[in-house]
Amino acid sequence: MVVEPGIELSAAAPVLGIETSCDETAAAVVAGARTVMSSVVSSQIDLHARYGGVVPEIASRAHLELLVPVVAEAMLEARVESRDIAAIGATYGPGLIGSLLIGVSSAKALALAWGVPFVAVNHLEAHLYAALLEEPDLPMPLVVLLVSGGHTMLIRMNGPGDYEVIGATLDDAAGEAFDKVARFLGLGYPGGPAIDALAMTGDPTAVAFPRPMLDQGWDFSFSGLKTAVVNHVRRHPEVDTADVAASFQQAVCDVLVSKARRAAHEVGAKGLCLAGGVAANTQLREAVLDVCVADGLRAFLPTRSMCTDNAAMVAAAAYHRLRSDGPSAADTGALPNLRLV
Ligand code: KG4
Ligand code: ZN
Repeated sequence: MVVEPGIELSAAAPVLGIETSCDETAAAVVAGARTVMSSVVSSQIDLHARYGGVVPEIASRAHLELLVPVVAEAMLEARVESRDIAAIGATYGPGLIGSLLIGVSSAKALALAWGVPFVAVNHLEAHLYAALLEEPDLPMPLVVLLVSGGHTMLIRMNGPGDYEVIGATLDDAAGEAFDKVARFLGLGYPGGPAIDALAMTGDPTAVAFPRPMLDQGWDFSFSGLKTAVVNHVRRHPEVDTADVAASFQQAVCDVLVSKARRAAHEVGAKGLCLAGGVAANTQLREAVLDVCVADGLRAFLPTRSMCTDNAAMVAAAAYHRLRSDGPSAADTGALPNLRLV
């Protein structure tokens, strides 16, 4: 099959997305970057929980075992067969090298066997497409707060494929801070959802944790906040864990939301959008909503399952990249440190 850059796919063309950058093995079929026909996510949480975090070697072995059944399930749920698939997209970075290689190699092999284009997808761009997938007519420019286990970024989004990074974390990502604080508090892995749940019963004003770089520039720093939590609990072992979780979460949300709000004003954004796993956080979602109501901005909060890693966002990104850049080269490899721009 001869393929040219900038392929036009019909809005009904089913694209298969594959996501294996970290500890979720995911496959999805999405028509025209709009209609999710299926989205299957197989989490490896149980495999990694006993180690308190993701073990890269275990993750890649699990992807190897899970990918074929997960793809089969996604095809079955979408009621499509291989001949119906118009293109295959897979995350090629950033992420764990071994895990990425499983997804990329499998996607390339399937694309070759089925005679369809292969599209290498940037995982960060895919997180941005999660919003557009659920709300294709989002007003631009948008400020997107992309907060995940590996990244914390403030992004000006002018349209599909057109982004400017305004600020990023200088040390720990927001999700990493949640995970490390949760581990220290004995709440297990993954930490974000555990802190989210426990914080509901705690007092967010109980401990005045620092708000790092609140009024300074556009970058973030969460490593000092994590240390402040550790120091406080060591000095006050009797402290209520729910109060610590709520106060820590409040500090993270204050910094994230105040910067996103300032950025929205600075760039004249029409709306504020959340993306990435931490965007599933209850308090963060409420705080963004409040700010948007107060400032007359459009708030866009993707559903929680679309915030955390999934392959529907990968299929949507693949659709757009295929239209703008055409298929990726057959020798495309995995890029663990790939950047958004
Ligand atoms: O986007 P994601 O699924 O994977 C990466 O690309 O990193 O994000 C995972 C991160 C983890 O750090 C996890 O603890 C955090 O998102 N997370 C949350 C919540 N759900 C997931 N953090 C805070 N509150 C949540 N409800
Ligand atoms: Zn992610």
